[in-house]
Amino acid sequence: MRKRTAKKIPASHDILLWICGTVLWTLFTPVQTVAADFTLANQCPPGFALDDSNQCRLRSLYQLYDSLQDQGLGGLKTALPSHRDGFSPQQIDLGRLLFFDPVLSGDKNLSCANCHNPELGFADGLARSVGANGQQHARSAPSLWNSAFLKRFFWDARSNSLEDQALGPLFSEIEMANTPEQLLANLHQVETYPALFAEAFPEDENPLVVDNIVAALTAFQTSLISLNSPYDRYAHGDSSALSARQLEGLNVFRSFVARCSQCHTPPLFTNQQVAVIGTPEPEGLPRDIGAQATFNAKRLRGGFKVPTLRNIAQTAPYMHSGRFATLREATEFYTKGRGHAVPEGEELLLHWHISEPNLSETELDRLVDFMGALSDESFKPSTPRRVPSGLLNGRPNFSIVELSGE
Ligand code: HEC
Ligand code: HEC
Repeated sequence: MRKRTAKKIPASHDILLWICGTVLWTLFTPVQTVAADFTLANQCPPGFALDDSNQCRLRSLYQLYDSLQDQGLGGLKTALPSHRDGFSPQQIDLGRLLFFDPVLSGDKNLSCANCHNPELGFADGLARSVGANGQQHARSAPSLWNSAFLKRFFWDARSNSLEDQALGPLFSEIEMANTPEQLLANLHQVETYPALFAEAFPEDENPLVVDNIVAALTAFQTSLISLNSPYDRYAHGDSSALSARQLEGLNVFRSFVARCSQCHTPPLFTNQQVAVIGTPEPEGLPRDIGAQATFNAKRLRGGFKVPTLRNIAQTAPYMHSGRFATLREATEFYTKGRGHAVPEGEELLLHWHISEPNLSETELDRLVDFMGALSDESFKPSTPRRVPSGLLNGRPNFSIVELSGE
């Protein structure tokens, strides 16, 4: 919560003058000047420990487990895949400020957080995102939780690193619609950014460059760790962490009938592969060919990266085009018949794990209960109450000032 500091009220005859003064000061103080007092954190976010070289290293109970990948999928004590860490607290904190600052977009009206809103599981609650120019994106905004572990980014797996990925939204016409020159010019104009970049990248002669913008954004995103859900507590040995219904759901999820865990493999609940499962496109829209374009491979037509199911209860609507409004609808898709949503004349090579599980209504409900046990936002970073540019987010669905944090 925001702290309120009580102000001393001056003597009565001065009250009117004091009120007028305060109002005028608030109205006419240029927004930029409030930025001068920004400092960067010198501690790592929760879940990380600072090492001797000022780098934050991930700490998780999963690091105690050997990989059981060859001993059956979906095991509780399966190790985590390799991850990105080793950023300094200052780099992570600078990335946080940049992530929430609309100064990154061409029209200074749209921040990363508009489409990856921490209050909405780092997604935006829309079926398909809307960019700086009001243009609708063809796809929905994925959650960014646990992206430290991902090897491929975007629904069609067209990017191999967070650094490469960030160049997409920054300079895409349908997202933030900026140019490298404009972006650098805008950041240089904000009084504090040159100093903050120097603090975060002390060894660089010229720290305010696109590479470091992207490095700081990567540092922040790799700090978004969600591995303390009821499911995780259960996996680490707390048998009371899941309700009876969630446990029933876990068993359906892992069963060779439903086969969910073959693709949504614990502990990340994605095997990071591309799969063609044949989800429907929104009414009237053409087939999104997905990974076919990335790999120039016809067999991957309509293939998408298996998304994580971490914090999935927070990120409706679902699938690449947000076609399903609820988790129940998204789950039902899997039991309506293999290929039922593929239009006639469309040839998709559906993955062999997409089968005919004939799940009962109760089993579907239990799967939804179980996916609810994958929620953990305990390490949610605080939303800055103000950002160095002094700009506020212009989007009606997002307002920095109304959110708590420092
Ligand atoms: C206009 C809304 C919008 C904005 C602004 C936006 N994104 Fe995205 N983001 C999306 C959409 C939509 C996708 C999926 C695009 C696709 O798969 O083709 C995406 C995908 C991603 C991914 C890939 C996640 C994954 O699991 O594959 C990352 C990471 C990401 N964005 C980070 C950022 C960062 C960092 C910024 C700010 C520099 C940003 N985004 C700005 C909408 C947005
Ligand atoms: C063959 C691999 C595969 C199997 C098996 C599978 N999924 Fe998926 N799942 C995917 C892919 C790929 C997507 C993204 C598809 C798209 O966007 O069109 C997805 C998307 C989802 C989503 C939406 C995620 C989001 O962020 O929008 C949910 C929920 C989901 N799956 C749950 C399940 C459940 C429950 C089961 C078991 C009944 C299951 N999946 C079985 C591959 C699989």
